[in-house]
Amino acid sequence: TVRKLFLLPGDGIGPEAMNEVRKIIAYMNAELGGSYETDEGLVGGSAYDAHGVAISEGDMAKAMAADAVLFGAVGGPQWDAVPYDVRPEAGLLRLRKDLELFANLRPAICYPALASASSLKPELVEGLDILIVRELTGGVYFGEPKTITDLGNGQKRAIDTQVYDTYEIERISAVAFELARTRKNAVCSMEKRNVMKSGVLWNQVVTELHKAKFSDVKLEHMLADAGGMQLVRAPKQFDVIVTDNLFGDMLSDVASMLTGSLGMLPSASLGAPDGKTGQRKAMYEPVHGSAPDIAGKGIANPIAMIASFAMCLRYSFGEIAQADALEKAIANVLDRGIRTGDIMAEGCKQVGTVEMGDAILAEFKSL
Ligand code: NAI
Ligand code: MG
Repeated sequence: TVRKLFLLPGDGIGPEAMNEVRKIIAYMNAELGGSYETDEGLVGGSAYDAHGVAISEGDMAKAMAADAVLFGAVGGPQWDAVPYDVRPEAGLLRLRKDLELFANLRPAICYPALASASSLKPELVEGLDILIVRELTGGVYFGEPKTITDLGNGQKRAIDTQVYDTYEIERISAVAFELARTRKNAVCSMEKRNVMKSGVLWNQVVTELHKAKFSDVKLEHMLADAGGMQLVRAPKQFDVIVTDNLFGDMLSDVASMLTGSLGMLPSASLGAPDGKTGQRKAMYEPVHGSAPDIAGKGIANPIAMIASFAMCLRYSFGEIAQADALEKAIANVLDRGIRTGDIMAEGCKQVGTVEMGDAILAEFKSL
């Protein structure tokens, strides 16, 4: 069966990084019996320049019909003054909304060769491979009421509301359990049931779903503050962490500092499974932005984008061996001291975007 990939390279270094993924896909189709069919569209500033919108309806339809979307990055100073509803980020927000991407996956992988770039002691993070699954469309960022009112006595009152329904907790924990099965089969759920009703329900729903459908997966519960502490004390104890929108926002930023450069961090966002095929809507993208300061110079680190494609192989297509091999190829190239400028270290060889992509592809071919 044909696997439809929709590529949205975007702006700045987005297209440069995407080119390196394109080479890997071409190789997989030519030599590994892959049947990836790629189509490509415009998003962000490049879509605005061509069509006056952040993403065209035609490209939205293609994104909706694809098995997975690969997204580069959007934005840049030349679009700072465009109207709010067609600004580059609006393309990303539209994709997340229409694809209903409620699960945000942020891995924290520490390649051994970069362990000394971590903010923790190298031995604590060497070989680290955890996945934070953050609920993305609910919780306190969206709950109503959300107001600031004048109390009339020189005081104001700000209200944000944390709201979670059973189905929202169920679907995000189902994602976490399913992903754990493709990894080390362990989930840690984090909430604050000691002080929040949403935490009580979260804990209860996760526990019940686990019992009903995922009892083969190891499940642990942790209070989110203690979880944050454990994440920097002994991060290797975790496999998959599942948590709400707010805690997930903070915990994934903390986890990202365990691993080194922004140019290394991939991410994924997943939606509901298709009624017929069971395939989840999915979009894969690097955590970094369009890096206008280095765009067009051929020096961007393509690893975050390539690692995002590895996540796509693993989580959209179940190609675990190929995903493992691609991640191993990245690790081996780093071990050999091949580095882009952002991760350059003493005694290493500095290369550009294309050379880094070529080195990873050559290594991938040899594995
Ligand atoms: P940024 O992530 O683009 O860059 C931050 C710093 O990290 C820069 O010095 C950049 O050169 C460096 N960097 C980032 N990725 C790199 C890579 N792959 N290789 C080497 N160095 C890399 O964030 P910034 O500067 O805050 O935003 C720049 C533009 O990107 C803005 O227009 C912003 O709105 C947009 N942006 C877009 C995102 C997206 O498309 N998802 C996410 C974050 C920012
Ligand atoms: Mg954040």
